[in-house]
Amino acid sequence: QKVELTIDEIDKGEYEHFMLKEIHEQPSSIGDTFRGRISIDKTKIFLGGIIDVMPKLTQAKRIIIVACGTSWHAAMVGEYLFEEYARIPVEVEYASEFRYRNPVINADDVLIAISQSGETADTLAAIKMAKKQGATIVGICNVVGSSIPRETHAGVYTHAGPEIGVASTKAFTSQVTVLTMMAFMLGRKRGSLYDELYKQLIQELTLVPEKIKHILRSEQYIKDIAETYKDASNSLYLGRGVLFPVALEGALKLKEISYIHAEGYPAAEMKHGPIALIDENMPVFVLATKDKSYEKIVSNIQEVKARNGKVIAVVTEGDQTIKKLADHVIEVPDCHESVAPLLTVIPLQIVSYYIAVMRGCNVDQPRNLAKSVTVE
Ligand code: G6P
Repeated sequence: QKVELTIDEIDKGEYEHFMLKEIHEQPSSIGDTFRGRISIDKTKIFLGGIIDVMPKLTQAKRIIIVACGTSWHAAMVGEYLFEEYARIPVEVEYASEFRYRNPVINADDVLIAISQSGETADTLAAIKMAKKQGATIVGICNVVGSSIPRETHAGVYTHAGPEIGVASTKAFTSQVTVLTMMAFMLGRKRGSLYDELYKQLIQELTLVPEKIKHILRSEQYIKDIAETYKDASNSLYLGRGVLFPVALEGALKLKEISYIHAEGYPAAEMKHGPIALIDENMPVFVLATKDKSYEKIVSNIQEVKARNGKVIAVVTEGDQTIKKLADHVIEVPDCHESVAPLLTVIPLQIVSYYIAVMRGCNVDQPRNLAKSVTVE
């Protein structure tokens, strides 16, 4: 059943803006996303909404994920996780590009559409097209009863609650949470994840809300960093592997609400272009938590510092190496790399929020942007 709420009926509570409220809601909104879907003993994942299409999903030759904006970044995280844990090839597509190409779609493809609003015109058109060509369509949406879920064969609601700020925050982390659960579950069903690791990964996911609460306690410290860089005209966001899409999302958050030019890049690509932009006025946000590409990211930080760029690194608690190299470090609790996107995006949301506030921008309703884009 669809519940309609107007903005006036939703309270900002103690917060100055919806965006800040929604950032702070993430420990509970992520909890709402996995509530009832992870067994009490944390050993099983159950996604009721996709049970009917499980045979299709587990046997899929390929998964295509279509989305726009922030949802497209969630899709990119999904690509890494599905390939890593479920060993299914994934293609991530901008819905607008996909629908106007002549894409090759087969009956054994599963197309996943990700949309907070469930109303984005391009995403809706993309699934209608793929459905006509015989693909199985799965939705990951937030707004219950919206247009996209009504077109799909099956789906998982994110249950993040109403998101009012145009810049998506809690909807993103809930989308990533659903994709993470799907990747683990498919990995288990396809035999690419052994039982022990499967259980460990589920445990890790359930620890995320508490770890985000911990990060939120550094808000004042992150706000001070925002103060330092609020007058920048350009900025760069770097990440590798599953944190590359988080770099894209960090850059999008900053540009959409503060109007500072921001680019997200895979850290190793920096040398093929963006390195030319680096000087002492360029803040470079680097996602550098301890994972298999840690050593590589440390050398990317050195490359930025050698050109006098300012490095703000998101690191694993207790990291000493990067502390010596970077201008600022923002610590996040130690975690398994599969859930690192959910933690590392939080400080980037907070930095963007405060920079936008300090620049006097309309944080909840940035110029030229709409919460839901129902036109092409
Ligand atoms: C608009 C919003 C973004 C959102 C995108 C996709 O551009 O401003 O925040 O990510 O649409 O929206 P959807 O509802 O499909 O996730």
